[in-house]
Amino acid sequence: MNFKSVSALVMFMCLVACGPPPEKSTSPTDTRSASEAAAEAAKSNTAAEEAASASATHAAPASTDGWTKGAMISAADPRAVDAGLAILEKGGHAVDAAIAVHAVLGLVEPQSSGLGGGAFMLVYDNTKNELVVIDGRETAPASTTPDHFMEEGEPLGFIEAWQSGRSVGVPGQIALYKAAHDAYGQSDWSSLFTSAIGLAEDGWTVSPRLAGVLADERLRGAVRLDDDPITSAYFYPNGQPLPEGYRRTNLPYAETLRDIAENGTDAFYKGERAARIAEAVGAHPSPGNMTVDDLAGYSVKFRRALCSVQADKIKICSAPPPSSGGVTDNMIYGLYGLFEPESADEIARIQAFVDAQRLAYADRDHYVADADFVPVPADDLINPDYLEQRAKDRFAPGEKPTPGDPAEALGRKPIKGMWGQDTTEESKGTTHISIVDKQGNAVSMTATIEAAFGASIMVDGFLLNNELTDFARDPMKNGVPVANAPEAGKRPRSSMSPTIVFDENDDLFMVTGSPGGNSIVAYVTKSLIGVLKWGMTAQEAINHPIIIARGERVGVEVDRANGASLAESLTALGYDVQERTGETSGLHVIVVREAGLEGGADPRREGVAKALK
Ligand code: DON
Repeated sequence: MNFKSVSALVMFMCLVACGPPPEKSTSPTDTRSASEAAAEAAKSNTAAEEAASASATHAAPASTDGWTKGAMISAADPRAVDAGLAILEKGGHAVDAAIAVHAVLGLVEPQSSGLGGGAFMLVYDNTKNELVVIDGRETAPASTTPDHFMEEGEPLGFIEAWQSGRSVGVPGQIALYKAAHDAYGQSDWSSLFTSAIGLAEDGWTVSPRLAGVLADERLRGAVRLDDDPITSAYFYPNGQPLPEGYRRTNLPYAETLRDIAENGTDAFYKGERAARIAEAVGAHPSPGNMTVDDLAGYSVKFRRALCSVQADKIKICSAPPPSSGGVTDNMIYGLYGLFEPESADEIARIQAFVDAQRLAYADRDHYVADADFVPVPADDLINPDYLEQRAKDRFAPGEKPTPGDPAEALGRKPIKGMWGQDTTEESKGTTHISIVDKQGNAVSMTATIEAAFGASIMVDGFLLNNELTDFARDPMKNGVPVANAPEAGKRPRSSMSPTIVFDENDDLFMVTGSPGGNSIVAYVTKSLIGVLKWGMTAQEAINHPIIIARGERVGVEVDRANGASLAESLTALGYDVQERTGETSGLHVIVVREAGLEGGADPRREGVAKALK
């Protein structure tokens, strides 16, 4: 098998078997302005939504003025939330606040995301009545081949692949900041970094969670932070993990942000900083292949949000491929609606949620990858007609869920056989930010460096991601290519599900999202179903025990009120229940109620939801 030809072969197979080709969005050579690209992505969104939900009524567009509900931010650290609120206070747009929040998170929550990572940002601009996705996902360097993580015919183990230069994707975060600001920003660009620079120079205190992660012996055994002189000096001064309350400065971080504030994206993607990034990746004992040209060539993609108007007239929108957020949010919510019991029986409702997840995860694992490289039947997967058919596959508790075939269900040639079984593994190291500003604009951004502390490589005060381990490390399964195999310029599949929900009048209703690797899907849909179907407040939905039903097992969070009894009931129904403790979802949710904004922040991390006074 010539690995270089995987995409070409699959594209050819698909010309024979699939529906329309995948959407093409902003390319690196795109000369449109960010606002033009955003407007175009927003327009194509409307057409796709109508196609995807032909059977549902579509209400009139939201009013663009008279927003009276106030402003709010929910994110993973109070210092980051305060930085964003200061921007909103002065009339900044939600995207301005998101940049300010995230620049602080990169400093005080370095295990989760940062300047060396990537993100998906959903922007709802109330004044333009526009919804777009800015895809700032990391990309595979130009010399990447499908056998990127293979050695002597075997895939590298996860830790070996994670702690390496070869796991580092070309970071998208700074390009995303700039594109979002160019398209929507109302604040002065340099003002967005003032809070983060101040904290980096004056010192910030180490939070209990970060101190706990650094002291965790299992993590210390796996990651290289201890071994590398730069990361070791920063995180383990005198060989000891940074303790809670320690005041830490990060002058290189401040300098990087100052440079970006003054010189924009060139300060990151070109010149000496880009050379240092490429050098650090190449100098690793397990070197990567990123070059300065890869960095200079990075560009974000403006994409249409993947939306579906559900049977209850609620419209759920999230990130399209290469993220699986839009597919899974809509599949699980739609299937839940089909399975929802008429009675208020709690266990029957939980079972409906479990079975909806089982079907959606099986499809997502099989089909979702970067649609610019392989055909992804995203619109088919959320098509209500497919969901009706797929609901009939409802697997019994002891059965192993397998993928469906949306093309066949919709009367076309089957496509299931074109992909081998997915082998991608995903892990911890992400954050989610939800914002509504004073004009009623909203941002839902999930940002990541993939696993905790990314690849453990620090350059100029920030950590580089290990996002390429979000590809399937083994590109073939039983002689059949895997959709999510590595390729040059391809973006690895993500579970990140930054989500924005509109009510039956097409007015903004909810902003949600979470970290958590492939469990993100289960966390985010719990927040959606909790608020929209179970009548919970944002906080109640966040607090509800986590239930993750992917594959043959059902994970139930038993160290939360009611969790143990749910686990017992699901076991009695015949599910293979895994009792889970120490879950670390990081849901940050805002719900628009009659009376104003209602926020929630996940008690499993350190976040807060705060309204602008
Ligand atoms: O993009 C993704 O789906 C993963 N890199 C996210 C990893 C993650 O959420 C880890 N979270 N705690």
